[in-house]
Amino acid sequence: MEQTLPDPGVAKGEHRCPGETYQDVLRRDETGAPPQMMTESYEYLGDEPIGFYRYTSREFLELEFEKVWSKVWQWACREEHIPNIGDYYVYDIGHRSIIIVRGDDGVIRAIDNFCGHRGTQLKPSWDNGNANRFTCRFHGWAWSTSGNIASVPCRWDFPGHSDDDLKLPSIQVDVWGGFVWVNFDTKAAPLREYLGVMPEHFTGNWDLGDRYLELHLRKRLPANWKASMGAFLEAYHVYKTHPEGLRATGDANAQYDVFGENVSRFMHTSGTQSPHIERKQSEQEILNFVLRRRYGNPDDAPKVPEGKTARDVYYKIVQDELRQRFNHDFSRFKVAETLDSIEYFVFPNAFFFPGAARPMVYRFLPHPTDPDECIFELLFLRFAPDGQEAPAPATPYDLDVQESYMSAPGIERGLGYVYDQDTDNLAAQQRGFKGSLRGTEILGNYQEVRMRHVHKVIDKYLAQA
Ligand code: FES
Ligand SMILES: [Fe+2]
Repeated sequence: MEQTLPDPGVAKGEHRCPGETYQDVLRRDETGAPPQMMTESYEYLGDEPIGFYRYTSREFLELEFEKVWSKVWQWACREEHIPNIGDYYVYDIGHRSIIIVRGDDGVIRAIDNFCGHRGTQLKPSWDNGNANRFTCRFHGWAWSTSGNIASVPCRWDFPGHSDDDLKLPSIQVDVWGGFVWVNFDTKAAPLREYLGVMPEHFTGNWDLGDRYLELHLRKRLPANWKASMGAFLEAYHVYKTHPEGLRATGDANAQYDVFGENVSRFMHTSGTQSPHIERKQSEQEILNFVLRRRYGNPDDAPKVPEGKTARDVYYKIVQDELRQRFNHDFSRFKVAETLDSIEYFVFPNAFFFPGAARPMVYRFLPHPTDPDECIFELLFLRFAPDGQEAPAPATPYDLDVQESYMSAPGIERGLGYVYDQDTDNLAAQQRGFKGSLRGTEILGNYQEVRMRHVHKVIDKYLAQA
């Protein structure tokens, strides 16, 4: 199958994996699928090679900080991190550091984390706590939680500076999906506009504001932030990097969408066989296979009734498992929302999975000075048990480059193994960015369109004055 040549009679961007499409699978599901999943929005974005300097050049990284990160909406923390007056959370991006704080009036503000006197950092990076003042360790200047100057020792020595002048600078802040978002650009368009289809798609079952942060990992990765994201923007690599599940995973027939400026999506199945698997399996074989992989023993696998699919039966089993595990009723989630990988990307660095079984969020943070490194954050958002308050958000657990995801407490082993497979490719790729004689990468027109989309949007920002 992998050697099927492109049909020369078909226009660029129109080629698709032969056989069943993701939409075909959705149409067969006995529950149907929610309307936002039944849409397609692919756009051909060209096929020019992409220069590797974009992943290795310090100058390029600096330009990104100067022209991209200073203009985009980016999520800083969860609202649940700062529920009470005085709660704060420090967000760092590049050399910038911002205190997200809930003031005495209950309003969330995003204020500069550097002293207005001689620049000393006020709170440690990524610190999280409660305060009524932010006091500098050096000479003791202090600010209120709304950023107003509250105390200056020997105030008489600064006659040329009004209290207004001594306010800490603040940046734009807004809340969506239970996340607190910030933007350094005072002239930026509102967050809701920036988010494109997200607010429309992430309603009802998909409202991420209804969930709490169950697990939070931060892993250092040995590759540029964009290349690291590239390991998660396509399912093309599943065939080679994660071959063990192909008998019951869609990959080459995944659906890819680009929604306007800042959002893209892929969706692929669980419970159908990969187009790479040549032998057509029965629905019963597929069910036995997924159950063996998920639960170990296939012997008591239920029979797939006549006219039903492995997905329909698997769906009910996963629903039962989720209900027992999380003490929450998931029955409003349809087959595809329960089983599939549904991944939305919001430029520049945020991934959101609305599905019931795999409710992840990813964030990729560039290293402030080293283009060869980044931080990958893996979060799980879950529903609180029915009738109960959500637990406090998880504290981050740090993993270094060589440490397996499987060593982190709270992660399913099988999933940790998959993340290890993904990140194991990165060092070899970053090495190639520097040494390759070709000097550029080639992207698939369809399956890798979301990667190209990231580069295109970056270029748009870089072209601005
Ligand atoms: S540097 Fe902060 S009070 Fe002087
Ligand atoms: Fe992967």
